[in-house]
Amino acid sequence: DTALLEQHFNEKIDQDIRIEPKDWMPDHYRKTLIRQISQHAHSEIVGMLPEANWITRAPSLRRKAAALAKVQDEAGHGLYLYSACETLGVDRDDLFADLHSGKAKYSSIFNYPTLTWADMGAIGWLVDGAAIMNQVPLCRASYGPYARAMVRVCKEESFHQRQGYEIMLTLCNGSDEQKKMAQDALNRWWWPSLMMFGPTDKDSKHTEQSMRWRIKRFTNDELRQKFVDVTVPQAELLGLTVPDKDLKWNEERGHYDFGEIDWKEFFNVISGNGPCNKQRIEARKSAWDNGAWVREAANAHAEKKAKRKAA
Ligand code: 3HC
Repeated sequence: DTALLEQHFNEKIDQDIRIEPKDWMPDHYRKTLIRQISQHAHSEIVGMLPEANWITRAPSLRRKAAALAKVQDEAGHGLYLYSACETLGVDRDDLFADLHSGKAKYSSIFNYPTLTWADMGAIGWLVDGAAIMNQVPLCRASYGPYARAMVRVCKEESFHQRQGYEIMLTLCNGSDEQKKMAQDALNRWWWPSLMMFGPTDKDSKHTEQSMRWRIKRFTNDELRQKFVDVTVPQAELLGLTVPDKDLKWNEERGHYDFGEIDWKEFFNVISGNGPCNKQRIEARKSAWDNGAWVREAANAHAEKKAKRKAA
């Protein structure tokens, strides 16, 4: 009966035994995974847009090649994650419909504009840096397909982070104009990167249950703190100033103390009113409509092939 099944499920979670698609799982666990994995996939796909804006504007062939490779990687990450999500019994087209209708979320960070080339450096350094902080523990998530998808994603993310930091380093060792661009990008991307980790633990409605089910291995605030502790010294190495007057090393805590996040901005952005939300969803909807003929052709070809095989 269900109580026994639930008890057996909880024992597997407590013993770090992976839950696989064919295993019994509580409906709420399944729903939480569908919500998180689909929104993670949407984040990867929407995340291609701000960076794609600079592929044709990259300052050199080397930078263009790296930007192309990174955006292509994000597409791949999205496809892995949609596949992982489908193992939970959902249809990919329904997930896309939820994104296009505004029902599903994607990472808040992608609703900000990429105004200068330095933004490509700041995104690789800070956004992929934050994504790595959040995704490495997900390699140990209790749901097998999600954890396994993360292993491959994390390998590629470290290239993303390194190429971003190298862009920032080049700019900071360049002309005054270039250094100013790097500082301006840090000023605009710092706080939105901290918001990527989600609301504070006390305001996070899912964290406690996700920790219990070992989907999350650390809370939002713990990962955010780790990100600040690692990233501030990197900013110092660049000779850049983090735009937070309350940022200070706290010897006692062994962590940086930092200022209050503007949660009004965060909740505004995730409810669809950020600087670029409309533009991002419009871009996704027109890509979906313009790509309909490709899907129809691929399906027709697959049906013909299946008929030939059956004949
Ligand atoms: N952007 C948008 N929505 C967010 C958010 C953010 N940064 N942080 C939290 N939220 C939403 C949650 O989805 C939830 O809303 P919902 O119930 O409608 O889904 C609500 O705010 C409450 O937040 P919780 O902290 O309670 O929710 P979670 O337990 O789901 O934690 C999370 C949020 C930490 C983002 C978690 O979902 C997670 O780890 N997701 C997987 C990782 C992910 O999506 N990372 C995005 C990185 S971007 C990326 O990967 C691209 C990279 O390659 C550049």
